[in-house]
Amino acid sequence: MTSSPAVPAFTLVRPQGAPLDPSPLYTELRATQPISRVSLWEGQLSPWLVTRWEDARAVLGNPAFSTDPTHPGSPKDTPQGPRGFFVNHDDPVHGMMRRTLTREFMVKRINELRPAIARLTDELLTDLTELSEPADFVEHFALPLPSLVICELLGVPYEDHGFFQEHSKVIVDFNATAQESAQAWASLSEYLLGLVETKHAKPGNDVITRLAAQADEGGITDQDAADLGAFLLLAGHETTANMIALSTITLLSHPDQIPHILGGEEQVAGAVEELLRYVSIVHGGLRRTAVEDVTIDGVTIRAGEGVIVPIHVANRDPEFFTAPDDLDLERANARQHLAFGYGIHQCLGQPLARAELQIVLPEIFRRLPELKIAVPMDEIAFKQDTVVYGVVELPVTW
Ligand code: HEM
Repeated sequence: MTSSPAVPAFTLVRPQGAPLDPSPLYTELRATQPISRVSLWEGQLSPWLVTRWEDARAVLGNPAFSTDPTHPGSPKDTPQGPRGFFVNHDDPVHGMMRRTLTREFMVKRINELRPAIARLTDELLTDLTELSEPADFVEHFALPLPSLVICELLGVPYEDHGFFQEHSKVIVDFNATAQESAQAWASLSEYLLGLVETKHAKPGNDVITRLAAQADEGGITDQDAADLGAFLLLAGHETTANMIALSTITLLSHPDQIPHILGGEEQVAGAVEELLRYVSIVHGGLRRTAVEDVTIDGVTIRAGEGVIVPIHVANRDPEFFTAPDDLDLERANARQHLAFGYGIHQCLGQPLARAELQIVLPEIFRRLPELKIAVPMDEIAFKQDTVVYGVVELPVTW
C-alpha cells in the first residue's frame, strides 16, 4: 500500500539548500494543519503529527500519551519495533529506572566534571592542530570528546570505543533492519553486562560501579544495570557529538555571531540554548501512543492512536519564537526550546550536554580563530536517516 496524496509520508529529510531547517512540508503543515496525519510503514499506519510548540508540550507533558512501543498503534520506526530503552517505559517502571540515575546527572555532580571536560577539549584540539590539513573534525574532535567524557563518567574503557560506536551507529539508523538494530542493541547490552560483572569484583568511582551496587542491594538486576549503562553510552556520545559538529557549522556560517560564543559565562549559556533550538538534532520525532482520548487544539486523538512530535519543527514555531528561522544567540526565550524533550522523559543527560557544549564551543573558536570548512556546504554529507541529525564527516582547516 502506498500513502494517499492527502496523507504525506513521514520524512526525516531536511532541505538540500538549507540543511539546518526542517522539511518545508512540516513548516507548511504547522501553518495550515498543525495536527494532521502522516503515513508510516508505506501507508500501513497513519499517526498524528503535532507540529506547534504549544501542542507539542501538551502531548509530551500529558501521561495519557505512552512511550511504550508495544502498543499496536505505536508509531515506531518499523512494524517490528520495539527497542529496549528505558525511555520506552511509562511510569511507574520508567520512574523507578530514572531514579536509579537521577543523582548521577545532577548539575552539581556534572559541574565536578567540568575540569576534566576542559582538559580533554584542550588535549584533543592540540592533537587536531598537529594533523595535516584538512582533517576530519568529526573523527578527531566532535566524536571523541563526548565519547571520552561519557566513558570517564560511566567507567567504560575508552579503548573499546570502536566497538560501541559501531553498534550505536546501527541503533540510531532508520535504514537498519529490526534484526540488525536488535542485534546491535544485544551486543551493546552484553558488553555492558560483562562490565557490570567486572565492577562487582573491582569497583571504581563511576556510574556503572554504582549501578552494580544497586543491583547488589536488590533494587535492580544486573541486566537492568547493563541496559541502563548501554543506553547512557549510546545517548551520551551520539547526541553531543552531532551537536558539536552542527553547532560549529552553524557558527561558521554566521560569523557575525561568533563573538557571542566567546562572551562571558551567561552569554555563552544563552548562545548554547539558541544553538540547541536552532539545530535541534533529535529530528526523528518523539513517538507516543494515546492511552485515552485526548483533545488538543480542537483535534481529538483517540485511545490507541499514534502521535509523532517533531521537536525540530516545534522549535521553529513562529507563534512562540520570533523570526524562528534566524539564528539569534541573544534570543530571550531560547531556553524554552524542546530540543531536550518535555515532561517526564525530558533528557536526563541535559546538564552534561550543556556543560560539554558550554566548554567546548568557546574553546574551539578561541583556539582556532581561522577555522574553516574545507569543502563547499553542498558537499557536506548530512545524516538524513538517523534519529539524531548530524554530519558523517566535516573536513576543516585552521
Ligand atoms: C545535545 C545533546 C542531547 C540532546 C539534544 C538530547 C535529547 C533528548 C531528548 C529529546 C530526549 C527525550 C526523548 C523522548 O521524550 O522521547 C532525551 C532523553 C534522554 N536523554 Fe538525552 N539528549 C542529549 C544528550 C544526552 C546525554 C549526554 C545523555 C546521557 C549521558 C542523555 C541521556 C538521556 C536519557 C537517559 C533520556 C531518557 C530520559 C527518560 O526517558 O526519562 N542525553 N534526550
